[in-house]
Amino acid sequence: MAQGTFKSSIGTFAAVAGSVVGLGNIWRFPYLAGENGGFAFLIVYLFVSLLVSLPVMLSEFSIGRSQRCNAMRSFKQISGGPWFLTGMLGVATAYVIDSFYMVVGGWSLEFLRKSVMNEFSGISPERMTEEFNAYIADGTGPVIWALVSLALATTIIILGVSKGIEKMNKIMMPTLVLILVILVINSIFFLPNSQAGIDFLLHPDFSKITFKTLLAAVGQSFFSLSLGMGAMLTYASYIQEKEHLPSTALRVMIFDSSIALLSGLAIFPAVFSFGIDPSSGPHLLFLTMPNIFQQIIGGQFLSIIFFLFVFLAAITSQVSLLEVVTAFVSEELKIKRWKAAIWLLLTMGITGSMCALSQSDMDIFVFNGHSLFDIFDYVSSNYMLPIGGLLIVIFAGRIMPERILQSQLTNGNEKNTLGYTVIKFLIRYVSPIFISLMFLDLIGLIK
Ligand code: PFF
Repeated sequence: MAQGTFKSSIGTFAAVAGSVVGLGNIWRFPYLAGENGGFAFLIVYLFVSLLVSLPVMLSEFSIGRSQRCNAMRSFKQISGGPWFLTGMLGVATAYVIDSFYMVVGGWSLEFLRKSVMNEFSGISPERMTEEFNAYIADGTGPVIWALVSLALATTIIILGVSKGIEKMNKIMMPTLVLILVILVINSIFFLPNSQAGIDFLLHPDFSKITFKTLLAAVGQSFFSLSLGMGAMLTYASYIQEKEHLPSTALRVMIFDSSIALLSGLAIFPAVFSFGIDPSSGPHLLFLTMPNIFQQIIGGQFLSIIFFLFVFLAAITSQVSLLEVVTAFVSEELKIKRWKAAIWLLLTMGITGSMCALSQSDMDIFVFNGHSLFDIFDYVSSNYMLPIGGLLIVIFAGRIMPERILQSQLTNGNEKNTLGYTVIKFLIRYVSPIFISLMFLDLIGLIK
């Protein structure tokens, strides 16, 4: 019941890059960097990505490519004990994240539609906020668009690993980069007073760097690199033997950080040149940006490509989340890939709709004052991802036979190369310690 393989190196890179580049890069990174010392944060971020996250990615890559099956079964095949539960946790996490991620994917589609129809034109900022709130409160639109977003992801999944996932990413990722370059050029060169935004993002302020900043950087890097829930593991099970995993991982990491930085350079100059305060996440993407676009020449075009950009980033990540669950359902229930995908369209359609409705004014799927959307978001990033990531590195570094790790990371080279020795040290010591500290910080045990 194998799902297939990625046919080319460039396709492999595009697919993995498609998973990692997502909403985490567009909104969360620029905001965190701006608030936490700008360029200084970027340096810390790159540092922890290399020392903490990259080892997790290489662990997932090694487990996945050596076993060539879904996350749960990969653990089970390597070790008979309860370790398969780590894979199960990954599948559950992917399900949970995808349920709210598809809602945001849906918002970007609605905003793309509005941009194409030029519906933002001539609307005051107050009216824009009212309309956005009314749209969320009504619930119908968000549910429909979330389902459209899920249906698109399902279609790509059904087309298959190579003809669907690989091909789609080979088209979508270059498009995404091209759009981002246009947006950055426009923001830096054509907006008045763009320097303030550039300064906000790039001014290095090392006084802001504390232990907590370091831990925030670990959390961000984890989410941004799609780690801790079997997405990289599942994609790795489609990577050919000839690919060199450490260099793929390094290239992906550099690409992911570059997109995050460029997103900041596209967004913040625009925000500052219109004297807007960099406020909270979804608001900046979905309220502030349309506002800015309608005040500038060529705004409708920029608005269309901006929301296309957000949508591309969201859908390519969504597909990777869906693939984790599809591979699991298809292989474990021994049903065809397309049947598994249709089952998930139905079940995830329900949980996704519940997430969308939990934010409406119907007051359903709200528990103790928290919407299901927020609960899923909170529980997955604060508990499921760090626990999953920690278990994965412990498994790869201490439970899995070392020959698997070594042959996967050196492409069968028997000699202990320096690079391999360094990676093994990071996997066994540095990464687990940092992730543990991050988890203690997230649950409030580090003051
Ligand atoms: N890396 C994605 C982002 O930065 O938005 C989020 C994500 C996608 C997390 C896929 C996990 C995953 F499996």
